[in-house]
Amino acid sequence: MKNLQTMIKEQGQVFPGNVLKVDSFLNHQIDPELIKAIALDFAAYFNRSSITKIVTIEASGIAPALMLASHWGIPMLFAKKSQPSTLKNDHVYHSPVYSYTKQTETRISIDKAYLTSQDRILIIDDFLAQGQAVLGLVDIAKQAGAQVAGVGICIEKSFQAGRNRLEAAGLDVYSICRIAALDQGKISFLEEDKF
Ligand code: G4P
Ligand code: NA
Ligand code: NA
Repeated sequence: MKNLQTMIKEQGQVFPGNVLKVDSFLNHQIDPELIKAIALDFAAYFNRSSITKIVTIEASGIAPALMLASHWGIPMLFAKKSQPSTLKNDHVYHSPVYSYTKQTETRISIDKAYLTSQDRILIIDDFLAQGQAVLGLVDIAKQAGAQVAGVGICIEKSFQAGRNRLEAAGLDVYSICRIAALDQGKISFLEEDKF
């Protein structure tokens, strides 16, 4: 089984705007064995006790979030995305999320029935860039009175502001792969893999 860093080295493609495409195993076609390994890595870092739910945002966070939820035997909950004006219902918590990568604002929402002050959640996502997506989930958790146990990320772009923002908010951030730079199409990692 190849690990995430090896898969990125072999199959990742760098696009203009510091975008790393990983469509062959994570963002379009999905490699289930790789996702299992990712889930076990999260499970080794975070303390499962007292975590009630894994929370992510559709679409690309769902695969790793579901695999970890299955491993731990707890539910996985994903925030839905919609255009800012289309939701008028008061049965959901919502938060605006601005994507620097896509230069669009979406509204993410979670039904109030599925997130309460009884919950202690672990947030999982595929990428951490500016951190806006995760901060939107943290905002929703706050509205619900839920606690956030931590944030697990598959691929962190460490040269962008996301980690600092999340740490400034007091969050425990664990990333499986940390990318130092995407210069001239070359991918470099903060630390080479220990495997
Ligand atoms: P942020 O989520 O950390 O704030 O960063 P940003 O606003 O820049 O990212 C917006 C979307 O782009 C997110 O996905 C995020 O996961 C994704 N993203 C950011 N940088 C990269 C990258 O280098 N490569 C890839 N493949 N994705 C990146 P999303 O809008 O939630 O879309 P989805 O794919 O999860 O449906
Ligand atoms: Na994502
Ligand atoms: Na994505």
